[in-house]
Amino acid sequence: MKGLILSGGKGTRLYPLTYTRAKQLIPVANKPVLVRVIETIRDAGVNEVGIVIGQTGPEIREAIGDGSRFGVRITYIEQPSPDGLAHAVKISQDFLGDEPFVMFLGDNVIEGGISALIRDFTNHQWNSQIVLKRVPDPRSFGVAVLKSDQSIEYLVEKPQTPPSDLALIGIYMFDSTVFQAVNAIKPSRRGEYEITDAIQWLIDHGSHVHAHVHDGWWIDTGKPIDMIEANCNVLDELTPGIAEDVVIEHSQIDRRVKIERGARVINSIVHGPTIIGEDSLLENCYVGPYSSIYHHVTLANCEVERSIILENCTIRDTDARLHGCLIGRNVMVQRKLEKPRTLTLNLADNSTLWLV
Ligand code: DAU
Repeated sequence: MKGLILSGGKGTRLYPLTYTRAKQLIPVANKPVLVRVIETIRDAGVNEVGIVIGQTGPEIREAIGDGSRFGVRITYIEQPSPDGLAHAVKISQDFLGDEPFVMFLGDNVIEGGISALIRDFTNHQWNSQIVLKRVPDPRSFGVAVLKSDQSIEYLVEKPQTPPSDLALIGIYMFDSTVFQAVNAIKPSRRGEYEITDAIQWLIDHGSHVHAHVHDGWWIDTGKPIDMIEANCNVLDELTPGIAEDVVIEHSQIDRRVKIERGARVINSIVHGPTIIGEDSLLENCYVGPYSSIYHHVTLANCEVERSIILENCTIRDTDARLHGCLIGRNVMVQRKLEKPRTLTLNLADNSTLWLV
């Protein structure tokens, strides 16, 4: 069994963060989503992994390297333009050969790993296995309709009026018959070769496609709100711990908190589940539940909760508590103390700012 991770695409729904960074490299609980995907595949016993990359390829290669750090062997597959998930499979045929494979979208985070799914797939004569999840609003996903015997009646990509509440999660298993399908289908109305159409082709041509309905949480980290949600779910599973050289002075640290090397917490309160990254400084702060503070961040005289703050940020002297924030790298948020007390903004394109 091989692994195929899709990390091409533009990540437009996460602008402005994705102007300067591949969306799959944005961390959730201080670990990039793509690293979580690689570890999930590795933990299921798959060590030969292809990563489809697009225009953010150089950054992904630099962050992941040859995979040895994560215990896998990585082959990079370049996709000239984001022409769809089925197109990504098509261009990976040389790498995948005749072996069955698990395809994982590089921006999906799932509870509980995929070992059981892979075991089921290898123990049956299925040509494909798809994973579904009941969601309240499936309009931005592939949607499946099942028959009474739980086999798939049909699939449809991003329907305006969803025929069921069963969304396709970004985890798929295939044998080599999928190459006939991806070579036979035509681009959809939005101009992409859809994996949903390829799976429908398999069903129409008598292949056995098994549908598994996932019980735990799953998040497609497409939008900022999804990143915050994924961050909360992952932090709920956090193993707490405080690195040896961490400095804590006159502070209260809750039980479910992880503090990484070189961090300093001075005169502050930290409530978990929360993670504080390497060499970050918290001074006269309150950091509330579900916060991921990445490395080299300075928080001083401020309050933060349920937020993701990336590396090298400084947040200082703010009046309002930051809540539900996704803040990119090297950002400074600071109360202006001198007159005139104007609001002075220097925001990237497509930024969102909520004032109180
Ligand atoms: O997250 C689950 C959904 O993923 C499914 O329900 C849909 O059926 C499926 O089409 C897909 O929809 P998205 O709109 O979320 O796909 P997105 O364009 O965000 O791409 C998913 C991942 O695949 C992302 O890491 C980028 C990568 N990708 C995407 C395209 C279009 C590629 O590597 N190459 C591509 O050509």
